[in-house]
Amino acid sequence: MSQSLKNKLIQSLKDQKEIFGDDLLEENIINYRRTEIGNNKISEPEALFHEEWESAENLEQMNNLICNCQKCLLGATRNKFVFGSGNPTANAMCIGEGPGADEDAQGLPFVGRAGKLLTDILKAIDFSRDEDVYIANIVKCRPPGNRTPLPVEMETCMPYLKKQIELIKPKVILCLGLTAAQGLLKKRDSLTNMRGNVFDFDTGKFNTKLMVTYHPAALLRNPNWKRPCWEDVQKFRKLYDELTSS
Ligand code: URA
Repeated sequence: MSQSLKNKLIQSLKDQKEIFGDDLLEENIINYRRTEIGNNKISEPEALFHEEWESAENLEQMNNLICNCQKCLLGATRNKFVFGSGNPTANAMCIGEGPGADEDAQGLPFVGRAGKLLTDILKAIDFSRDEDVYIANIVKCRPPGNRTPLPVEMETCMPYLKKQIELIKPKVILCLGLTAAQGLLKKRDSLTNMRGNVFDFDTGKFNTKLMVTYHPAALLRNPNWKRPCWEDVQKFRKLYDELTSS
């Protein structure tokens, strides 16, 4: 079930409870006592739809709980589930679109040509990709033929990414490319308009800052975008320094 459908169902149950009170359903199913699942306190209507990974206390546990995911059709065609890699307590996250062929073969994000360029871009602003950042994607399984993930695939996978963000708690996120930016910001704006701005990003439980730049694969195709990308990542580094210095 998609997160948005789940939210609608939960809201609908709450609305019905509001109108009909305790007569509507048996009290032991829908009463609004707080219940504890893992460390999270959630209301019982939410508990009806709770999945075990939502209570994961760290990334490894979460990966183990979701790595066999078949919630969308990408699960059927992937070779490896690409959860993410890097420092689980990094102050910066980079988020791409979805695994390509190399990533699908190795189970790691950004390990192909675009990944090598990303590593170099990060180095240029004095970040080590293993120590200073955590890298993930909007979708965790390769779309066949490297097509853009479908909206339904992005929406189905988004709760996983949000939970990763809540566990990592980055001070800043860098979106790589328009798909990642539109997926996270739910905005149908152009990359040109989004670049250079600092956005607020809220998972519902954790709030952070977000910037947008070109996808490294786009830079490989259009080397003339390397200069504006360089300007973006310098701004990103400056924001990171400001937010981590206090
Ligand atoms: N492109 C992406 O968006 N993500 C990867 O992991 C690799 C290439």
